[in-house]
Amino acid sequence: MLRVAVCVSGGGTNLQAIIDAVADGTITNAKIVGVFSNNPGAYALKRAEDAGIEGCCISPKDFSDRSEFNKAFLAKIDEWEPDLIVLAGFLVIIPEEMIARYRNRMINIHPSLIPSFCGTGFYGLKVHEEALKRGVKVTGATVHFVDEGTDTGRIIAQKAVEVLDGDTPEVLQRRVMEQAEWILLPKAINDIANGLIK
Ligand code: GAR
Repeated sequence: MLRVAVCVSGGGTNLQAIIDAVADGTITNAKIVGVFSNNPGAYALKRAEDAGIEGCCISPKDFSDRSEFNKAFLAKIDEWEPDLIVLAGFLVIIPEEMIARYRNRMINIHPSLIPSFCGTGFYGLKVHEEALKRGVKVTGATVHFVDEGTDTGRIIAQKAVEVLDGDTPEVLQRRVMEQAEWILLPKAINDIANGLIK
């Protein structure tokens, strides 16, 4: 049984997709052992609670020194003894020590087709705003392993989504979630849990 820790900062629709996929058997051989948030107001924490999963919130704002937050964050994750860490809309820079400790055991979902619209500053709605500004006709989502760079790790899976005339960033974000993210991320976890991706 793959022990999965999920890190979140916001609404947690990707977390919900994972919870649902475990419940309905789309993901097998895996269990969510904990949900970590840096944001006490994250609705994702409520989703974890409703699903009977341990949630933990530690905010960087509670520490005067970033390295003290990093220590507390890593200690909490280690406590859950995860085989896989899933960054599902997590807006915190991952400490290098953690990247090294969980190399090839930490994945991220990004709402574009990497290497487009990714890297520092590209997160959430901003990604879709930039895609619309550039006028691309196709965008999508990417699941990748986490390395020391921003969105530079080995790509696991991608799915393309059409951009339609009249799209707003919000409408496009929703389509990318529905048609790509909520499918791709649970599938990647299932594939890892069942040895199909290493
Ligand atoms: C998702 O669209 C995810 O791909 C994105 O944040 C959103 C979180 O939504 N992540 C990034 O932009 C990371 N660079 P959610 O909280 O509803 O899952």
